[in-house]
Amino acid sequence: MVTKPEIVASLEESRRRTLGLLAPVPDEGQRAQVSELMSPLCWDLAHIGHYEELWLVRELAGEPPIDVTFDDVYDAFKHPRRDRPALDILDARGGREFDAAVRARALAILDRLELDNGDPLLDGGFVYGMVVQHEHQHDETLLATLQLMDDFAHPAADGDDTTASAAAAPRISLPHDVLVEGGDHVLGTDTDPWAYDNERPARVVVLEPYRIDTTAVTNAAFSEFVDCGGYDDAAYWSDEGWAWRKEAGLVAPQYWRRDDDTWVRRRFGRTEPVPPDEPVQHVCWYEADAYARWSGARLPTEAEWEVAAQGTPVAGADLWRERDRRFAPAPVGTSVDVVSDHGARGMLGGVWEWTASDFLAHPGFRAFPYREYSEVFFGPEYKVLRGGSWATHPTAVRTTFRNWDFPIRRQIFAGFRCARDA
Ligand code: AVJ
Ligand code: FE
Repeated sequence: MVTKPEIVASLEESRRRTLGLLAPVPDEGQRAQVSELMSPLCWDLAHIGHYEELWLVRELAGEPPIDVTFDDVYDAFKHPRRDRPALDILDARGGREFDAAVRARALAILDRLELDNGDPLLDGGFVYGMVVQHEHQHDETLLATLQLMDDFAHPAADGDDTTASAAAAPRISLPHDVLVEGGDHVLGTDTDPWAYDNERPARVVVLEPYRIDTTAVTNAAFSEFVDCGGYDDAAYWSDEGWAWRKEAGLVAPQYWRRDDDTWVRRRFGRTEPVPPDEPVQHVCWYEADAYARWSGARLPTEAEWEVAAQGTPVAGADLWRERDRRFAPAPVGTSVDVVSDHGARGMLGGVWEWTASDFLAHPGFRAFPYREYSEVFFGPEYKVLRGGSWATHPTAVRTTFRNWDFPIRRQIFAGFRCARDA
């Protein structure tokens, strides 16, 4: 059972992270529009507080909001990201003050609340887990925005490979893929107290046997696809993917650039050689799908991904590599990889992994506590991502966690691994 001090510690940790990520960015820079795909950093900052106020102050205690006009400007459904810079939003200082004021109220309410009072929102501290995960999810969004800021070198991302524990760990020799037996498998969860509605209920799926890559596809492997003309041959692409590849002018993963005969990349405002052993990042679903066809494979279904990942410990050495001051995934295939029951490696906390599946409700799904977390997104226009990236905090990483995005998106920290029928 989660205790109040644990809840307070989780809330404080997420806030330290938010403020720590933003602290090096000048306040004016936090108000700027970096990309039409993203909000100004200070919108995310105050949206974090607004969400916390909604659930931990207004919903739990019935107290009034600090400023009721925020219900409009910080509602993600009312204003698409590209319109948010024009809204009457708090600047960075205002956002910090608002978030602190909300937090003070939320902690006072938590202090006097009975946690096991039968309210399903409080069961296992659920609503606190939801708010903590929300802040961490937006911290990952902040990181995607920071990565898009070409002229801002984030000082916390300056660790080179030698500062990272995983990079120094011995490489081990591994089979290319692992076999997963067919038959009945249990997916999702009924018991994880902080799991979202979209992970519930647990259910049985029947799978045909399949093989799945031991590790995520690396930069080295993906650069072979690029260098062999994979982006120039429609045969590897779905019709939709080929149309998008032409329209968007895709030639390589986002942030990659050719420098003489090597690939270099931008990473948080710095240029560096593309590290061959890291999982590839910043490819869209169409690029992942094309690579898979080129290599004679396919993307795993969401169910195949989850079964292959079962047993992977969340408390792995490589999770949340922000701490390593590296802001990048660990190299694959080292002795410190987290390993699943099936022998698949690095399935949590490396890169988000695209799956073949559309984002749909599991049988028995019930929206809780609000339809807008995931139910309103169910449908074939979104693809499911699994696993969590180096930028995903461990509280939002588990084998059942479902993420989703449009198949054209590349600014997220996403890569993939391939699967084959056995
Ligand atoms: C689950 C990551 C797709 O960031 O858009 C944040 C999470 N929901 N605020 C997102 C979310 C409300 C969501 N993803
Ligand atoms: Fe949000």
